[in-house]
Amino acid sequence: MARRKFIAGNWKMNLDRKGAVALAEGLVKAAANVVGCDIAVCPPACYLEAVGQIVKGSNVALGAQNVYHQANGAFTGELSTAMLLDLGCKYVILGHSERRHVLGETDAEINKKVIAALDAGLIPILCVGELLAEREAGNTMSVIRTQFDGSLAGVSREKLKTVVIAYEPVWAIGTGKVASPAQAEEVHLGLRKIIAERYNNEIAQIVPIQYGGSVKPDNAVDLLGQPNIDGALVGGAALKVDQFMGIVAGA
Ligand code: PGA
Repeated sequence: MARRKFIAGNWKMNLDRKGAVALAEGLVKAAANVVGCDIAVCPPACYLEAVGQIVKGSNVALGAQNVYHQANGAFTGELSTAMLLDLGCKYVILGHSERRHVLGETDAEINKKVIAALDAGLIPILCVGELLAEREAGNTMSVIRTQFDGSLAGVSREKLKTVVIAYEPVWAIGTGKVASPAQAEEVHLGLRKIIAERYNNEIAQIVPIQYGGSVKPDNAVDLLGQPNIDGALVGGAALKVDQFMGIVAGA
């Protein structure tokens, strides 16, 4: 079964309002004729509304970079799934390595967010990935398995069908050190085997698995040409229309 390619831009904590609007406008224009590839942008929360207005009805979907699992209440600084839906979000990035390693999010917390997002009808882009030391110690797949099991605990077969997974080796994020297509493919295939074990083979073939970590137009074709790499989660190169669209073209 052919999985559609999916390229998402994670703008992280970058840009100002003017820059976010200009980037969104440029992408909507450039993506107008793209077929056969899904596209999303995940701006900072404070620009979701402005970017959402621009991408509405276009080929570019909207995503958030985080969400809180509670529906409402005294949770200073947090946003709910309903708020993200209200802003027009279709996706939410969860468990990004910067949230895991800089902000200390655990698999248990990520799991609550994944469940809240799925219950609300948002599509989680669940990130998993190993640190350099974990790779060098030969622990890549055990780290990935632990993150997968912890983050997706209690997620039903039906719900898993709507999850997007992003494999992002931490050592490749923002470093310019991209995983080789073979290194990435090995983990993607491993992830598909984990899904088949935990769920079943049919679902393993459905779930899109993006690669993330220093994806650029010049390495996108080789990465996206791997049988189990279904797209990319792009950071730095998502901040420039031509670079992001170069990656879309590679898909
Ligand atoms: P990068 O970030 O493309 O800048 O390496 C990827 C990500 O963190 O999603």
